[in-house]
Amino acid sequence: MGHWGFVGVCMAIGTCNLINVSLMEFSEPGTFNYSTLLLMEDNETLYVGAREAIFKLSMQNVSVRINKVDWKVPEQHMLKCIAKGKSKETECLNYIRVLQVLSNDMLYVCGTHAFQPLCDRLSLKTFSLLGTHEDGRGKCSYDPAQSFTAVMVDGELYSGTAYNFLGSEPIIFRYSQSQSLLRTEYSTSWLNEPSFVYADVIRESRDSTDGEDDKIYYFFTEVSVEYEFYGKLLIPRIARVCKGDLGGQRTLQKKWTSFLKAKLVCSMPELNFVFNVVHDVFILKTPDWRETVIYGVFTSQWGNVGLSAVCAYNMTSVEEVFSKGKYMQKAIVEQSHTKWVRYNGIAPSPRPGACINNQNRMQNIKSSLQLPDKTLQFVKDHPLLEDPVLPIGNGPRLITKDINYTQIVVQRVHALDKNVYDVIFTGTDKGVLHKSVLYEAEVHTVEEVQLFRNSEPIKTLVLSSSGAGSLYAGSDSGVVQSPTAFCEKYPTCVDCILARDPYCAWDRHTFACVNILHIPDVTQHSLIGDASQCPLGRSMSHQPVVVKPGSSVKLLCHVVSNVAQTVWKVNGSILTEASSFHLMSDTSLLIYSMGTEDQGIYECWSSERAAGKNFTRLVISYSLSFDVPKSTGASVYSLSPSNTESSSAAPAEGNGHTSGTPPLTTITDAPLHSSAVPIPSLAPQPGSSTPKLLPGPHAETRDPSAKYLQHDTSTALLFFFVLFFLLFAAALAYNCYMQYLPGPCLRLRAALLGTAKKPQPEYVACEAGLMEPSAEKPDPTEQLYQNGAQLRALRDTGYETEPECGNGRIPSQTYGDESPPKARPFDVDCASQPIEYADADAPY
Ligand SMILES: *[C@@H]1O[C@H](CO)[C@@H](O)[C@H](O)[C@H]1NC(C)=O
Ligand SMILES: *[C@@H]1O[C@H](CO)[C@@H](O)[C@H](O)[C@H]1NC(C)=O
Ligand SMILES: *[C@@H]1O[C@H](CO)[C@@H](O)[C@H](O)[C@H]1NC(C)=O
Ligand SMILES: *[C@@H]1O[C@H](CO)[C@@H](O)[C@H](O)[C@H]1NC(C)=O
Ligand SMILES: *[C@@H]1O[C@H](CO)[C@@H](O)[C@H](O)[C@H]1NC(C)=O
Ligand SMILES: *[C@@H]1O[C@H](CO)[C@@H](O)[C@H](O)[C@H]1NC(C)=O
Ligand SMILES: *[C@@H]1O[C@H](CO)[C@@H](O)[C@H](O)[C@H]1NC(C)=O
Ligand SMILES: *[C@@H]1O[C@H](CO)[C@@H](O)[C@H](O)[C@H]1NC(C)=O
Repeated sequence: MGHWGFVGVCMAIGTCNLINVSLMEFSEPGTFNYSTLLLMEDNETLYVGAREAIFKLSMQNVSVRINKVDWKVPEQHMLKCIAKGKSKETECLNYIRVLQVLSNDMLYVCGTHAFQPLCDRLSLKTFSLLGTHEDGRGKCSYDPAQSFTAVMVDGELYSGTAYNFLGSEPIIFRYSQSQSLLRTEYSTSWLNEPSFVYADVIRESRDSTDGEDDKIYYFFTEVSVEYEFYGKLLIPRIARVCKGDLGGQRTLQKKWTSFLKAKLVCSMPELNFVFNVVHDVFILKTPDWRETVIYGVFTSQWGNVGLSAVCAYNMTSVEEVFSKGKYMQKAIVEQSHTKWVRYNGIAPSPRPGACINNQNRMQNIKSSLQLPDKTLQFVKDHPLLEDPVLPIGNGPRLITKDINYTQIVVQRVHALDKNVYDVIFTGTDKGVLHKSVLYEAEVHTVEEVQLFRNSEPIKTLVLSSSGAGSLYAGSDSGVVQSPTAFCEKYPTCVDCILARDPYCAWDRHTFACVNILHIPDVTQHSLIGDASQCPLGRSMSHQPVVVKPGSSVKLLCHVVSNVAQTVWKVNGSILTEASSFHLMSDTSLLIYSMGTEDQGIYECWSSERAAGKNFTRLVISYSLSFDVPKSTGASVYSLSPSNTESSSAAPAEGNGHTSGTPPLTTITDAPLHSSAVPIPSLAPQPGSSTPKLLPGPHAETRDPSAKYLQHDTSTALLFFFVLFFLLFAAALAYNCYMQYLPGPCLRLRAALLGTAKKPQPEYVACEAGLMEPSAEKPDPTEQLYQNGAQLRALRDTGYETEPECGNGRIPSQTYGDESPPKARPFDVDCASQPIEYADADAPY
């Protein structure tokens, strides 16, 4: 049941060089919504809660189904559900949403059970439901589509869900067999339309000298009460309750006495941009709870922005906010209007919302039942803290564009370089997994894996920490298991180490890139984690590239690591971008209109920091020379004589151009010997990989140097863009010279030709005219200008294509500042995508 997924070595997110890999997957025909996963590493099993079924799978290979139990809805429940207007095919089924460990051989399971949540016990010995049929209200949602979270702590179930059929009564609930049931107050100041995301326990009682209690932290997004906003402003929250809470005696009876919540901030303060919806949280636990790090994935409420972010929070600062933060309180302003403001008075003692500790016990407050009414009344009215929980570094760890993250897990890896890295795995709504690593305060996405073929949202993500390490992802269609690293895909030592995947190291005995977690005793092994120790590669010979004068050539440089910088050297000296006939992108060098002086040895060097050192290596070397043609005509090229001709050639060429091979594919697919891609004619040559230079459609009227670009969309566009401006400037100058243009031009001409005549005052008023090509004037593209000094081929592009936004890196010296910006007919509004900011009145 294995399937083929894709792993990418990333240059940047979304542009990963994909490799076909095998992943193990599980699904059963007719069963959907594999959205609850429970990993029991001691027993090497993965339990999966799906719709109407619970599966027991092997943790080593999820394709291996060990057991299954069906849990369907009985007829009369189903009819009741349908009578209430719910769908028979979807909503009136049983979606397993709670799968928690009760004891070594018992699981606690709950399902939506046709909008009548029900819980049961699952014996692991017989793998059967005991049929205890416990009321699932508050423990599980009614609606399978509604947000929900639950965690079992010491046999007690802590959940965040809705308590009623309509889903309108949110609740944070504790179900316990020995202690009293506890819940939140039903009030918008406690919970206001929350979307629950995650809940987990932090064992603060461990090694505590002051008898602190364990705490259960909840994460959710809710509608803000404290900000005035024209619509519903969402706020990500962190809330907590104490494990030892028993509720109040009179006030807050059977309700939390320790419920407090604070704002979770994930924003880019310098851009005034706020990520205000939290989708998932992972708590990276450490032996000392103070070193715990909380990771969350966020997007903005304004989804059209298309940004996702990962923020990390320090447990010490979370604790600080809850134990020392100021409270907010509701104030009535202007009769009935309420406003939340900071509470500046003195809060009662013991501190409202705090857990019972040794100090309270000394004052004879042994449990929450003995808390004074004043404290309880205060916390009932003031559950919200004013102080926010700020992210580490005051901003996101990772921001991505056009990607919606849905899930996150984090693994702390002790790499061979003796550093500790937090490896962040994020799942997207398109079934993709990203692996990102923080290096020197910068996050790099090192890998991208297509987990689910049919780009569906990843609903759950679970990480196994033992042994080799696998990730398990659940979606509506199935479960997929993926290794945490694909080290073997790096072919050389340098690639292996400079990929900076903390899981990978080079084994100098087996000559392979290996996962250090697969090796029992890393220190005993002959592993290389430092690029400078890599055995030297064979010295590289130059790749010969023969081109015709005036043609364009693209030299590719394929760098596997995504943090490398590339430098091009010509005849041993570094090429700067100042040269107007070179264009450099991250991975390639485009030389257009080759002149004799452009021949030489071209070398691509990559350089990057690893283990505090700069590591430079030669990636590829080319020897560029001319295939000297017999008739070395003028390099000046005559453009198409008539407008009709050039426009008639336009559509086909434009199409052929836009459907050109994407650059990355070119790089990956090109065998080494053809890494240099002479840019062929636009004359259609589908599928042809031979770098031939073909004459254009009007070859007989053209100089052989007249060639069209086809290969690389972006660079070709740029190239034509540049050409067009040269051409336009030329046409303008020519017209000006010929006195076709009005006043200001005459003035300019006068100045240039040295006429002493002063510009007439009325010309000043016409100055704008210079900026606008007059309608009756001939189309500048029909004009030809020959600049004797620059004997470069200027070609009629013959087609009009809108330049792609963001590609417009044009050497500025190509056209002067006087080049009228308004007169560019190809101009498109390249203003970057408008980012919608939260209103200036909005929070943060
Ligand atoms: C991935 O590799 C497998 C086995 O070699 C092959 O069957 C499959 O078609 C490949 N998938 C793609 C999209 O290349
Ligand atoms: C799971 O592992 C634990 C600890 O090794 C063991 O006590 C328990 O019996 C196992 N349960 C099952 C169902 O194998
Ligand atoms: C996983 O189990 C399936 C089904 O038994 C089998 O076909 C497949 O080869 C196994 N994969 C691995 C990597 O063991
Ligand atoms: C369950 O899976 C089906 C099929 O993929 C999907 O259409 C539906 O939205 C899912 N329901 C829930 C509640 O996730
Ligand atoms: C968390 O914050 C505390 C105090 O502000 C600091 O000592 C600690 O190093 C921080 N921990 C992390 C993981 O950033
Ligand atoms: C992200 O999610 C939002 C809201 O669901 C959606 O409008 C947007 O198209 C998604 N973006 C991507 C890149 O999938
Ligand atoms: C490189 O050296 C060759 C031979 O010395 C020379 O002809 C060529 O112009 C040089 N190329 C560049 C770009 O300097
Ligand atoms: C390492 O290389 C980078 C880029 O080439 C350079 O900016 C930096 O100064 C170099 N650092 C050292 C220590 O050589």
